[in-house]
Amino acid sequence: MYNQLITNKLKLAVVGLGYVGLPLALEFAKKMTVIGFDINERNLKMLRNSQDPSEELGPETFENRNIIFTSDPEELKKASFYIVAVPTPIDKYNTPDLKPLLSATLSVAKVLKRGDYVIYESTVYPGCTEEECVPLLESVSGLKFIEDFKVGYSPERINPGDAEHSLQKTIKIVSGCDDESLDNIAKVYETVVEAGVHRAPEMKVAEAAKIIENTQRDVNIALMNELSILFNRMGINTYDVINAAATKWNFVAYTPGLVGGHCIGVDPYYMVHKASELKYHPQMIASGRFVNDSMGGYIAKQTVKRMLAGNQASGIHAGIQAGVQAGEHAGNQAGIQAGNQVGNQAGIQSPAKSRVLIMGVTYKENVSDIRNSKVADIVYELISYRTEVDVVDPKADPQYVEHEYGFKMADKPTGKYNAIIMAVPHKEYRSMTQDDFKALLVPHGLVVDIRGVFRSIIKDLDYWSL
Ligand SMILES: NC(=O)c1ccc[n+]([C@@H]2O[C@H](COP(=O)([O-])OP(=O)(O)OC[C@H]3O[C@@H](n4cnc5c(N)ncnc54)[C@H](O)[C@@H]3O)[C@@H](O)[C@H]2O)c1
Repeated sequence: MYNQLITNKLKLAVVGLGYVGLPLALEFAKKMTVIGFDINERNLKMLRNSQDPSEELGPETFENRNIIFTSDPEELKKASFYIVAVPTPIDKYNTPDLKPLLSATLSVAKVLKRGDYVIYESTVYPGCTEEECVPLLESVSGLKFIEDFKVGYSPERINPGDAEHSLQKTIKIVSGCDDESLDNIAKVYETVVEAGVHRAPEMKVAEAAKIIENTQRDVNIALMNELSILFNRMGINTYDVINAAATKWNFVAYTPGLVGGHCIGVDPYYMVHKASELKYHPQMIASGRFVNDSMGGYIAKQTVKRMLAGNQASGIHAGIQAGVQAGEHAGNQAGIQAGNQVGNQAGIQSPAKSRVLIMGVTYKENVSDIRNSKVADIVYELISYRTEVDVVDPKADPQYVEHEYGFKMADKPTGKYNAIIMAVPHKEYRSMTQDDFKALLVPHGLVVDIRGVFRSIIKDLDYWSL
């Protein structure tokens, strides 16, 4: 198989040309003949014009590549080594939605020939490839697994927005269904992964390895989020604590934050699903999900609470000043009342009359992907208090945001806000100064800096971070 691929006697197909499939297909297309297969015609049109729909790759990445982009099963039929990289999301009940995976498997099953290979890259729970995909390949093709065709699993480790940990530079796990297939699959991937491959003993092991990489991150971030809630009650800044603790050799500096996207916030649910089938209820994994999924609501509530407290405090402060000037204790009391009234009159004590600017809506920094963004939870929670919310983001597509989450984005900030939530500190925002924040805020306005990136520059504004 390997020799025939690198001598262009056989073709390789990548099914699903998204964040994972496209870079992989383009990399293989430097070395062999590749069929890029997808069902999204709009994206295929862009790809034929050397444009990456997810804006991760520049047009130069498409140059001198031996690849076609197609949705035609007749073209797909010409391949012998199929790599499946389609989405594996969760449904509204947080259980695995295998529809895209099984539909892509069906497309491959219909064109499968004796001697072919099918490699899965989509993230799944341990056992899914053999339990769900292999039976479909067998029943539709009429061929026998191992005897007639081989299957492998090789999880992807790319990190969108991170050019350093690219496909070429990151060790790739490969697995097969027997020694011969493992050897062929390893050799095929070694042609594009400079860092080399790790040969896992079985597909189940490779599937489990991918899931625990993301589950470990999820649980660790959840611990930091829980500590952040606790430290907030104690009046301690979490980042100051982490910086101090990180001076110990074996402390791992995870930081609190929103866990969105289609990997870390999704993959643990695949594990929970499989565990439930085995009559085991994994407490650690599920509680990590619980904590991380509730952070958007928590941040919104803290914002409202702080807007109220800050406004009241500034009113009281003004009143006390007036009272002190009058030189009497009674004056102070009157001043507090007057201060409260000033706040009330300005209408700033009610979240319903407050304006909040949210900066960043993508699931993480420096990417345009908005899937499973937890910033939407903040928006919904604030709207439930009837707070006026403007959302801006230099990366996100406003139409896609409206389609996915049902709210319109603002073109740009307008007027003064009672609070700014720096939700996703894209590089476009990183150079903001305290004066830039002040220009957008009412006097005594609040900055909620979820990732804590502005904590050293904001000195005389009301400031809060996780
Ligand atoms: N994006 C990441 O950072 C990342 C990292 C590691 C693993 N993964 C995993 O890789 C898999 C793919 O993720 P992604 O981010 O590349 O998804 P994606 O949504 O960016 O791309 C998937 C592509 O598959 C296409 N597709 C869907 N159904 C299809 C079908 N039946 N036939 C052909 N094409 C079809 C879509 O049109 C889309 O172009 C998922 O299982 C994901 O969990 C993703």
